[in-house]
Amino acid sequence: MNLKVANIGMKFGMSHVEGAMNWGAEIAAICDSDEENLRFAGERYNIPKEKWVSDYREIAENPEIDAVTVAVPDQLHKQISCEMLRAGKHVLCEKPLALAREDVKEIIKAADGSGKKFMVGQICRVTPSFEMAKEIVASGRIGDLYFIESEYAHDYMTFLGGWRADPLRHGVIGGGCHAVDLIRWIAGDPAEVFAYGTHRLLPMVSYDDATIAIMKFDENTAGKVFVSTGCKRDYTMRTVIYGTKGTLICDNTSPEMKLFEVDEKGVAKEPEIIPVRVNSHNAGREFEVFADAIVYDKPIEADAREGAKTVEVCLSIIESSKTGVPVRPDYDF
Ligand SMILES: NC(=O)c1ccc[n+]([C@@H]2O[C@H](COP(=O)([O-])OP(=O)(O)OC[C@H]3O[C@@H](n4cnc5c(N)ncnc54)[C@H](O)[C@@H]3O)[C@@H](O)[C@H]2O)c1
Repeated sequence: MNLKVANIGMKFGMSHVEGAMNWGAEIAAICDSDEENLRFAGERYNIPKEKWVSDYREIAENPEIDAVTVAVPDQLHKQISCEMLRAGKHVLCEKPLALAREDVKEIIKAADGSGKKFMVGQICRVTPSFEMAKEIVASGRIGDLYFIESEYAHDYMTFLGGWRADPLRHGVIGGGCHAVDLIRWIAGDPAEVFAYGTHRLLPMVSYDDATIAIMKFDENTAGKVFVSTGCKRDYTMRTVIYGTKGTLICDNTSPEMKLFEVDEKGVAKEPEIIPVRVNSHNAGREFEVFADAIVYDKPIEADAREGAKTVEVCLSIIESSKTGVPVRPDYDF
């Protein structure tokens, strides 16, 4: 199938252009409201000028275009995704799905009513180390999970401002949604969360720059998410998965993961070092999942409801850190 794609938002969205090109899609349009960013991307990828668009509505109106990728500020995800779905386009929208419960509900409604594919770019689900971790857990090698922790530590000091400083774009939802989504993907939906926040490193924003959330999945499974957007260290999403028969330590920025197991007598074996390909932003694989779902009519795992549930857990963590009481996320979408 000749898939005709339009890519909206030409900063991180350039990774979608590359993903689409590598998959073999036809780039029918690239779009950015900023002339300079549009020109830069157009020249970089040798896209003919007649396909450069500054108003995304032109894409909605173009019946030739099958699918759209959306990589604009989070506050615009709902508006642009819904307009594209209503115009009959398949949509791959960046994470977080949106910043408010009403907005994720509206996206679900538009996706349900469209008959088109909708995918949210929760990129950890296509990160090589995390895909491997999920497979190891599913194989039963580390037994039953009793604790899982993930952290999103990324220093935003040099690029924080503009739409990222909006109080609605709290660090837990903006970046922390990666760790929350990863935990949900591997361990399921937490029934209750409780969180503390601190604010010492990013004076230019009104929200906390570090948050720690503990969570309960069921009587015998607990979890923890740590988010720091002002940390003084290199980017990491270190994740540790504790099972009754073993423990797995992995990351999105490390070339190896470590697997601890015990033998049949319960004695610790030598830990296994498993090499992994580092690709913390595997947009190529993400586009492939999206395009294959369209072409072969496959279901999409990271669909609008999944994106909504991750947003709901993030909002519950933020609420708990403000109120000092545990919050039970409402997954009724
Ligand atoms: N998956 C990941 O790991 C990852 C990494 C970075 C960013 N993101 C997400 O990607 C999205 C974009 O982030 P970014 O870093 O590229 O932000 P950015 O601010 O650097 O770039 C956004 C681009 O969108 C353009 N834009 C804004 N409004 C527009 C409109 N109405 N129509 C067309 N273009 C418009 C801007 O001019 C800009 O070029 C965000 O949702 C962000 O959360 C995801």
